[in-house]
Amino acid sequence: MRKIHSNSADATAPRKVMPSAAMVIFGAHGDLTKRLVVPALYHLCRAGKLSEHFVLVGMDRTDGDAGGWVQGLKEFLASAMQAAGQERIDDKAWDRLTANAAYMQGDITRSDTYKQLGELLDSLDKKHGLEGHVLFYLAVGDRFFGPVIDELAAAGLTKQVAERWRRVIVEKPFGHDLASAKALNEHILKSLDESQVFRMDHFLGKETVQNIMAFRFANGMFEHMWNRDRIDHVQVTVAETVGVEQRGSFYEVTGALRDMVPNHVFQLIAMVAMEPPVSFAADDVRNKKADVFAAMLPVKGEHVCRGQYGAGHLGDKAVPGYREEPHVAPDSSTETYVAMRLEIDNWRWAGVPFYVRTGKRLTKRWTEIALRFKEAPYALFQDAPVDRLGANWLIIQIQPDEGIRLSFNAKRPGTRMEIDTVEMDFTYAEWFNQEPANGYETLIFDALIGDATLYQRADQVELAWRVVQPALDLWATRQPSGFPDYTAGSDGPACSDAMLKRDGRVWRKIG
Ligand code: BG6
Repeated sequence: MRKIHSNSADATAPRKVMPSAAMVIFGAHGDLTKRLVVPALYHLCRAGKLSEHFVLVGMDRTDGDAGGWVQGLKEFLASAMQAAGQERIDDKAWDRLTANAAYMQGDITRSDTYKQLGELLDSLDKKHGLEGHVLFYLAVGDRFFGPVIDELAAAGLTKQVAERWRRVIVEKPFGHDLASAKALNEHILKSLDESQVFRMDHFLGKETVQNIMAFRFANGMFEHMWNRDRIDHVQVTVAETVGVEQRGSFYEVTGALRDMVPNHVFQLIAMVAMEPPVSFAADDVRNKKADVFAAMLPVKGEHVCRGQYGAGHLGDKAVPGYREEPHVAPDSSTETYVAMRLEIDNWRWAGVPFYVRTGKRLTKRWTEIALRFKEAPYALFQDAPVDRLGANWLIIQIQPDEGIRLSFNAKRPGTRMEIDTVEMDFTYAEWFNQEPANGYETLIFDALIGDATLYQRADQVELAWRVVQPALDLWATRQPSGFPDYTAGSDGPACSDAMLKRDGRVWRKIG
């Protein structure tokens, strides 16, 4: 193991003191709560990052009590950890997290539920000294975001008095298009101040995504070539092997574009394309990201391609086509793959295409941002046994095996000037001891300490929808032809390759 030089003043010191707080999860029995939110809280608790005065409150329609709710969550987490080959659940940490937990059965569409919730929060506050701080987590269907916030406000639960804060985390999807995102922002900002709203995009919690800022701005050697003078184009790939699982009804009306592009993919682009912020303060960073979205040109119809998977194989396993998945129409025209060419029309990026692609049931789970540099002049190698020079790529690998790679050309040992393309490779796993994390840890921690840097602001969300809206409009009037058009376990539909070919380029291999 090589020595790591830590340049942090005190690498173990918490960034800020974690305040006392209650966290109320709406949708306490839901999939998101079990799979991501509670495991993240457990990791935070285990790492000693939660206040001793932290109370978890579950709210759902199902009848039950705190004991049963917590037990169900623990069993789920234990089996997920076992399946992932992680060590056994740490009972002490789990008990610390859940000892004071409360559960409330309630119908979120009824006003009296919120009155009751207010009483519960008051009594928990008296008992555990929470100083009135509450984080509401809306892990419910997006149609409830507006109404739940209205009810919380009507019951006085979002009111901030003196030091007492009240915050709301809103999950994805934030709107279905530009108009609905605008309407939702307008709706919730009637009751809440923007500083109280934490719009979640869990990609921003991923370690490598955050590292892009460190990589760009903590190193003196890359930034001067990070522009249209040196970069030919950028490829962003978010490839998944999973299909739509049990989420058919959600996915049918959502599709790959809405599910992934204006949110996750755009956040990746923003990290790579933004100008250096004045500081890492939330609004300084978010202003620069908003500038990127504002400079993006609305996508053109001919620069978008969509696809849908048919039956195929993942490794040895036969998997059904999208149209055969549960809760999916047998003639569905929902896309499970989308690729587009985006353009950021500003001083740094004008003329540098950003190609993005994302899809389900692709050959490999693989998320990367790859920057291709312009080629060196070939002239010098004309008389050498070199047909052409390999490309220089800088690859930011988000998952799996988070890290950064640089590919460049080197002379092959021997008497002749033969050139091979080689790689320099940094992986997180090799350099740092990483605790298991799903990205939600950082984001929930940040919401509790009131740091919105990694959350989306209202204007960013709307600017992003504005860019993809032409594709949505086009698809609303034109049925796709030839669906399904890619085999599960493949690299995606032919139209995607054709799109790059028209520009004289090719996609990188997935994986
Ligand atoms: C979610 C999408 O937001 O992100 C899913 O709704 C997708 O469809 C998921 O599978 C991908 O996230 P991750 O962290 O598993 O890469």
